[in-house]
Amino acid sequence: MYPVSKCSLELIDKAASSLLSGAIVAFPTETVYGLGVDAENKDAVARMYSIKGRPSDHPVIVHISNINDVEYWAKEVPQYAIELMRKFWPGAMTLILPRSEKAKDFLTGGQEFVGLRIPSNTVALNLISSFIKKGGHGVAAPSANRFGSISPTSANDVALELGEFLSEEDLIIDGGDSEIGVESTIIDCSRALPRILRLGAVTEAMIREVSRIDLDNDLNEIRVSGSLTRHYSPKAKVVVDRDAKPGEGLIALAEIPTPEGVIRLAEPKTVTEYARFLYSALREGDTKGLSTIVAVTPQGDGLAAAIRDRISRASA
Ligand code: TXA
Ligand code: MG
Repeated sequence: MYPVSKCSLELIDKAASSLLSGAIVAFPTETVYGLGVDAENKDAVARMYSIKGRPSDHPVIVHISNINDVEYWAKEVPQYAIELMRKFWPGAMTLILPRSEKAKDFLTGGQEFVGLRIPSNTVALNLISSFIKKGGHGVAAPSANRFGSISPTSANDVALELGEFLSEEDLIIDGGDSEIGVESTIIDCSRALPRILRLGAVTEAMIREVSRIDLDNDLNEIRVSGSLTRHYSPKAKVVVDRDAKPGEGLIALAEIPTPEGVIRLAEPKTVTEYARFLYSALREGDTKGLSTIVAVTPQGDGLAAAIRDRISRASA
């Protein structure tokens, strides 16, 4: 298996230099692990896309470390977007903004918009700011999984998922398990009002406190790969909200007992834990060679809605 590197300040410094020289660095974020490259290096971005097996017309998020970095990548930033940044960055929120001439087609999939995020994970923040200090401007990073597969929430999952495609100059930084466990909330800031394109830990209720939301659900104009119906899928068939039978895997809140003969993959005590353990539990189902995984979904909005969204795509 491809070696993962224990995190240290020296390693982060080395990783920042590696990024600048065109290498790929997989790094932890609070949501999921990212597959990072220099957002201005066309060849590195192309190699990252081919490792992911992702169609080249899909846009990628550019990760920055400071709100001041926004103006390099975006222009005509609406006031509500600035308020969202002030409130939720660093954090699990990606904003889709009108691009500057610096955000090339190979990042945006040819669209006039760029996705930006400041992650809160300290390893990620250190890596990005040290990369920017060395002369870079942003780290392009999709989730570090093959296209359509489950996002990795640990360095080992990255190594299992993509290790075979990495070369010697690339790095996988081990920063422990991702705290949140599902991808960032994506908010389209290209119109008069913000629109949620992908649910995540920054919830509609939290956003409503900052600004009014356009609930128009027209997702046709901006492509979000996470909004493809089948996505986040393990090899096992995922079935939602029915009783599990012997030999099947089960993911459900701890209050739901495990029927005889069923393989329990996760028993989170809270919705927060559910999000944190979901992807590793789906992966474990594959590791155990299960053909079916039953997921009993949590009720409620906010993060619970994000969990139901991911599970319904995994089961599509
Ligand atoms: O939590 C996350 O967002 C993680 C971590 C690594 O930051 N990243 C992530 O990236 O989930 P990815 O590429 O797996 O999913 C990002 C989604 C994609 O579906 C992409 O289509 C959408 O964001 N996206 C990125 N830039 C966009 C843009 N300019 N316009 C529309 N959608 C965009
Ligand atoms: Mg992804």
